[in-house]
Amino acid sequence: MTTAAIPSSARKSFGSDNHAGVHPSVLAAITEANSGDAVAYGADPWTARATADLKRLSGASGEVYLVLNGSGANVLGLGLLLGRHEAVICAESAHINTDECGSAERILGTKLLTVPAPGGKLTPELIARRLAGRGDEHFAQPAVVSVTQSTEFGTCYSLAELGKIHDFCTASGLRVYMDGARLANAAAHLGCSLAEMAEHADVLSFGGTKNGAMGVEAIIVMREQDTAATPYLRKQHMQLVSKMRYLAAQISALVDDDLWLRNAGHANAMARRLADGLAGVPGVEVVYPVESDAVFARLDKRHIAALQRDWMFHVWDEDSGVVRWMTAFDTPVAAVDEFLADIAATAKTG
Ligand SMILES: Cc1ncc(COP(=O)(O)O)c(C=O)c1O
Repeated sequence: MTTAAIPSSARKSFGSDNHAGVHPSVLAAITEANSGDAVAYGADPWTARATADLKRLSGASGEVYLVLNGSGANVLGLGLLLGRHEAVICAESAHINTDECGSAERILGTKLLTVPAPGGKLTPELIARRLAGRGDEHFAQPAVVSVTQSTEFGTCYSLAELGKIHDFCTASGLRVYMDGARLANAAAHLGCSLAEMAEHADVLSFGGTKNGAMGVEAIIVMREQDTAATPYLRKQHMQLVSKMRYLAAQISALVDDDLWLRNAGHANAMARRLADGLAGVPGVEVVYPVESDAVFARLDKRHIAALQRDWMFHVWDEDSGVVRWMTAFDTPVAAVDEFLADIAATAKTG
């Protein structure tokens, strides 16, 4: 993935949902939490409320732990489920494999058993391909399957697909970890509850940062028996925040009045609008189903360069000319329409 400099104009970025600012309600909640002292490391009422909210929404009988970022959440979540000789099966495109500086391998000392997965989605058949070597001491033993919901290509597993993976894993003695950095976008797309997705995982992350927070994610441990080591591992992984109330306030702001779903629903709708608008543009091909806040499209490399003079977005694959256009909770309709007009005008230049 290559990055162009952010243009000097105040145009909305289509580079990442991480480029967006913080939702005003989240900022207000942080300010509201900023009165007086509170006991540190999560022993405060804001944390009690936020974790109880996520426990209720996810249906977890285990516990919820707030962390700083998505990579930290993944290291903690996977680490809870892994023994020292065990490995993680994931899609080749999984963020833990492509964009976390090898932290699962370096910090957990695990092995990632990757599988080419169309649209970023694993299936029981793809998972089964990495099970050879089980019971052989010369091989790291597959123990966890990591799925990303929504995926790195902006697609979503349906509940039925998640159920099939979960059933297969249960029957095969594998645990399921769900990277939910964009779980809200999946919930909005599927029209389902957090609990309906969470029931197909042993441990999952719930992303706030890409959904309008300033910086917070949660690790949700679905079953009580898996919680014992979590507080210690969170500290060892440097994800135990002393002034936890400010993380917690962000989660509560997102949960209140379903802001998490409204933010994700808006981002998804803007991606849909962009994709629909591309339908009539010659030479632009949308390459994955648009099921969250990302549109992957192939277009002429000269047109990519021309558009990047005025708009911020990432080239996903230089060779094939595939770009990633992302929307966010605050993407204005007018920005999508202006971008579409520029894409159409550029496409006409031949
Ligand atoms: C699917 C997925 N998981 C995890 C992360 C990691 O988040 P962070 O950058 O906060 O560590 C990202 C970030 O882009 C992501 O897209």
